[in-house]
Amino acid sequence: MASFFEGFSALFLGITLVMSSCMVANCGNFYQDFDLTWGGNRAKIFNGGQLLSLSLDKISGSGFQSKKEYLFGRIDVQLKLVAGNSAGTVTAYYLSSQGPTHDEIDFEFLGNVSGEPYTLHTNVFTQGRGGREQQFYLWFDPTKNFHTYSIIWKPQHIVFLVDNTPIRVFKNAESVGVPYPKNQPMRIYSSLWNADDWATRGGLVKIDWSKAPFTAYYRNFNAQTCSGSCTSSNSKFSNGEWQSQELDAYSRRRLRWVQKNFMIYDYCTDYKRFVHGIPAECRKSRFL
Ligand SMILES: *[C@@H]1O[C@H](CO)[C@@H](O)[C@H](O)[C@H]1NC(C)=O
Repeated sequence: MASFFEGFSALFLGITLVMSSCMVANCGNFYQDFDLTWGGNRAKIFNGGQLLSLSLDKISGSGFQSKKEYLFGRIDVQLKLVAGNSAGTVTAYYLSSQGPTHDEIDFEFLGNVSGEPYTLHTNVFTQGRGGREQQFYLWFDPTKNFHTYSIIWKPQHIVFLVDNTPIRVFKNAESVGVPYPKNQPMRIYSSLWNADDWATRGGLVKIDWSKAPFTAYYRNFNAQTCSGSCTSSNSKFSNGEWQSQELDAYSRRRLRWVQKNFMIYDYCTDYKRFVHGIPAECRKSRFL
């Protein structure tokens, strides 16, 4: 009898080890983690679950969403964006909860004509309110290779990263009355769609349908999440560097480098838009 229980607990330990190493390593499998939600066969999973693609043609775009919901964590995915003339297309990759007071953390990649740069548009919604846009050019061509786009979502701050370089930090500014996403679990969503009424040069450049279908590729999805229950007061995060409190000195330097050289729009400095005063969270230091 004793050996039965020993065997059983060894098996249980084995399962636990496999599960926890998956949270750290790239164990993501698109079949396991995502549902293709719209666009019919324009959304595809292949290579045994290692690769996913979304396409857009004249009839429809396409999209997928995570099976799970997340409340805090580090979410990474590698993306290769629509190549060539991608003007008018938008590839959106975001975390969102549901309903009129939803929270949302957005990456949106706005396409461009061949040879002109993509715009990476970011936004943060809290309690249904957004309007916190920051936009960037990238320091590489995002259509040539896969690059890693990550969101670190913690009770203290949200960090957007590109190839592990932080490009944006949204700090918890509840102390000055700004709602912060901390109670509503979010799902991951992604879609490729026609946004040629606004995306490229403010809607001036339309989609060239002779180049359709437009296709973006995804791989190496990885989510490091909270083990067990995880709220802002009870943060039992799984192991991983992402949980350390602050950005280190090197990351802060990288963040300043991106913001100085690649940021093309910042709502925090849009004094024409906020004639009655810049939003409260902007008055806190933007750097950690
Ligand atoms: C597209 O290229 C033009 C010209 O370089 C640039 O002004 C614009 O910001 C780029 N991105 C988008 C999304 O329009």
